[in-house]
Amino acid sequence: TGHFTYDPGFTSTASTESKITYIDGDEGVLLYRGYDIAELAEHSTFLETCYLLLNGELPNPSQKTSFENSITNHTMLHEQIHFLFRGFRRDAHPMAVMCGVVGALSAFYHDATDYDDPKQRMIAQHRLIAKMPTIAAMAFKYSIGQPFMYPRNDLGYAENFLQMTFGVPAEPYKMSPVLAKAMDRIFILHADHEQNASTSTVRLAGSSGANPFACIAAGIACLWGPAHGGANEAVLKMLEEIGSVDKVGEAVKKAKDKNSGFRLMGFGHRVYKNYDPRAKVMRETCYEVLEELGVKDEPLLKMAMELERIALEDDYFVSKKLYPNVDFYSGIILRAMGFPTAMFTALFALARTVGWISQWNEMIEDPAQKIGRPRQLYTGATQRPYIPLDKRK
Ligand code: CMC
Repeated sequence: TGHFTYDPGFTSTASTESKITYIDGDEGVLLYRGYDIAELAEHSTFLETCYLLLNGELPNPSQKTSFENSITNHTMLHEQIHFLFRGFRRDAHPMAVMCGVVGALSAFYHDATDYDDPKQRMIAQHRLIAKMPTIAAMAFKYSIGQPFMYPRNDLGYAENFLQMTFGVPAEPYKMSPVLAKAMDRIFILHADHEQNASTSTVRLAGSSGANPFACIAAGIACLWGPAHGGANEAVLKMLEEIGSVDKVGEAVKKAKDKNSGFRLMGFGHRVYKNYDPRAKVMRETCYEVLEELGVKDEPLLKMAMELERIALEDDYFVSKKLYPNVDFYSGIILRAMGFPTAMFTALFALARTVGWISQWNEMIEDPAQKIGRPRQLYTGATQRPYIPLDKRK
């Protein structure tokens, strides 16, 4: 009993106050702590953006250095974690591996459960940001049977990740500054997105006082789904299935037919009813990366551009305000850089970790927060007597 607002999918329920990220979905605006995403993508770095999300302000030079040093200091994993990796099947999805390994960090850092202590919270935040690239790269290396690469403290955050992913002990990794910059920018674009499904999951898990590493594992589980972080993987699969530029029109037609069960992946968003501001930066980055790699004629890009052109002129998509979202171009970039599709969502998780842990921290510090406990409208059977087995039909 009780009278509750019925709000499936929480489309009209604000679960929290927050000072971290602002979205104006109608105008296509995304701000981290008041700074425009496009400006950050152009001028900032991922680590500086992490500092901003965590602390609310851009760091001054000495804060920037000490933050970067602290992250660098925490990039290694406990050696025992190597054995944890070896327990997985080689063909396991990297998100399954990440979910398990990140959750298992809670077994290594018991001190993190002392979440009343801001210093312990800060260490947990830094550890997570520092270790995610190492974990994601190891998940990749494990799947292809190459040795794990240790992090290198002389490299920047994105560079180090690329080195651990694509480097091998036998020869030095050839770093491309253009690709490293693109990787860093992709991380910035995915760093936070206010109360999306995975972030709300992290907050809900954390609202009980659970260990932050376990909470982030819950976020990773939620992000995995194709309606959320799995969409860039789904975009590539869709483009491959469409097969060629001349078949794009047909696919758009099919997506308009509700009975087809087919949607245009990378199109539409719960909040953006305009061009996703992240997709704009992603499209530019896509051109840069393909040019650097000398694959400007990439057929998938041609199909993506044709699909965008047709859909943006189509009444169905226009009237429903369905525009390309962040995932529409990111898959093409990541594929060109050499990441297998299965790694795409793992990269999203890597980048979103700072958002998750900033939101978790904000929740812990918020005196108004209590354990998350949604209510329901019960529609099941009313009370009835137990039926013995021999009396059942
Ligand atoms: N293709 C065709 N029709 C669509 C699409 C699409 N991609 N997206 C929404 N629609 C239609 C939908 O059928 C519905 O029509 P009607 O009002 O006539 O029933 C209307 O547009 C509204 O859609 P909805 O499903 O009620 O909207 P939602 O806010 O629940 O869903 C969404 C948002 C992102 C799940 C959805 O647009 C979708 O499935 N998109 C494809 C998957 C995707 O690209 N996901 C990535 C989201 S951004 C990154 C992230 O969050 O991780």
